[in-house]
Amino acid sequence: MNLWGGRFTGETDKHFAVFNASFRFDRRLIFADLRACAVHAQALGRAGVLLDSEVATITDGLQQITANAAEPGYLDRAEFAGAEDVHSFIESRLVELIGPTGYKLHTGRSRNDQVAVATRLFLRDELERLDVVIRDTQLALIELAERYADDPLPGYTHLQKAQPILFAHFLLAYFQMLQRDRERLADCRQRMNVLPLGSGALAGTNFPVDREWMAAQLGFAGVTRNSLDAVSDRDYIIEFASAAALTMMHLSRLAEDLIIYSTQEFGFIKLGDAISTGSSLMPQKKNPDSLELIRGKSARVFGHASALLTLAKGLPLAYNKDLQEDKEALFDTIDTLSDSLRVTATVLRNIELNRNRARAAAISDYTNATDLADYLVRKGLEFRKAHEVIGRIVVFAIEQGRQLHELTLVECQQFSSLFSDDLFEAISLEQSLAGKNAIGGTSSEQVRAEINKAKALL
Ligand code: ARG
Repeated sequence: MNLWGGRFTGETDKHFAVFNASFRFDRRLIFADLRACAVHAQALGRAGVLLDSEVATITDGLQQITANAAEPGYLDRAEFAGAEDVHSFIESRLVELIGPTGYKLHTGRSRNDQVAVATRLFLRDELERLDVVIRDTQLALIELAERYADDPLPGYTHLQKAQPILFAHFLLAYFQMLQRDRERLADCRQRMNVLPLGSGALAGTNFPVDREWMAAQLGFAGVTRNSLDAVSDRDYIIEFASAAALTMMHLSRLAEDLIIYSTQEFGFIKLGDAISTGSSLMPQKKNPDSLELIRGKSARVFGHASALLTLAKGLPLAYNKDLQEDKEALFDTIDTLSDSLRVTATVLRNIELNRNRARAAAISDYTNATDLADYLVRKGLEFRKAHEVIGRIVVFAIEQGRQLHELTLVECQQFSSLFSDDLFEAISLEQSLAGKNAIGGTSSEQVRAEINKAKALL
């Protein structure tokens, strides 16, 4: 049955009814909605709009629906398939359970403030769950960083070998990104955490419900201050989707790095069987499908963030039905982000560093050229001149097919008289790493300190 009987004499078109219905997806809000319903009923009681006995009957009915909804398969029953949305479903179930008193619950309320409060409550809980999953992914990074605390890896810029770093330093870069992601979600939660209920359809409510009391009951930090804004605001969903898009971008970058590092050409990382797939045709293959899917799934979350902005941009105040389209984008963003984080953590727990190969790669191809330039600076040469001298030495070494540490002191001295035999120590891998000892650098001292700081944040 429709909620809007009186004004209508004709039937809803069957296809339009299906098009209009959202129960098949917005049922996911049912527990949040039921919580808000119970508080609304009590607020009506406190305002003298409902009798205490009516509040009690309604509360019992809502509890019964809550218990039923938790039964597996209950909401999938064929008899509920025609429900328009989760809000009308709750009302019709309530009336079935407790009789016409159930019709009083919607007093002073609209589905417009109802859906707003349910979505905020729902997302607030989901943010807490997501924080747990992000933290576990961070933990997986730390576990790996501790396992390989002193192992070097070539660092890249432009995907050209640049300078040696520690593998743990590489991993901690992603820890930092995920830490910012957690902060963004916490920030988003703060703005989300206000009660829109009591805004009515758009103008407010004629009944003296104590909105601040309702907010406190539902754990909101305050109440919305403008009813028009409250029923049409989806900023908190867009903020969340944007934050989620950023996190997916970070996971995608990590995936890309690990995919590259696991190729035969790089060979720094070995992927475990648990997170790899084979080829239906080529028997030798081991493919990084887990990582490719994480990279690929970032696209759909970016799409949701973009869709939500587009959805909202042309809407006149206040509520418009377009806003029902926010749900599937929101739910899929939550699920995709959460699954991608989980798989990322699993991947991190199923990879091995090929220590020898990573070390050999870290010291070859003139990754210590900058250290050699810095050596000349310490001997008194201006940096720009030192840069030029070392550039010429690198050209010489490339022509000779030798690494810098394979040159002789005499050869080096032909380029600058400042070289003496301490130069070889200055360009060793150990010194190159240990030298980067300012805060945030890749020295083992700094990296160990950051691992400890990171652990404290979890
Ligand atoms: N299912 C609707 C939504 O998600 C609930 C609000 C409907 N309100 C209305 N006046 N049609 O947006």
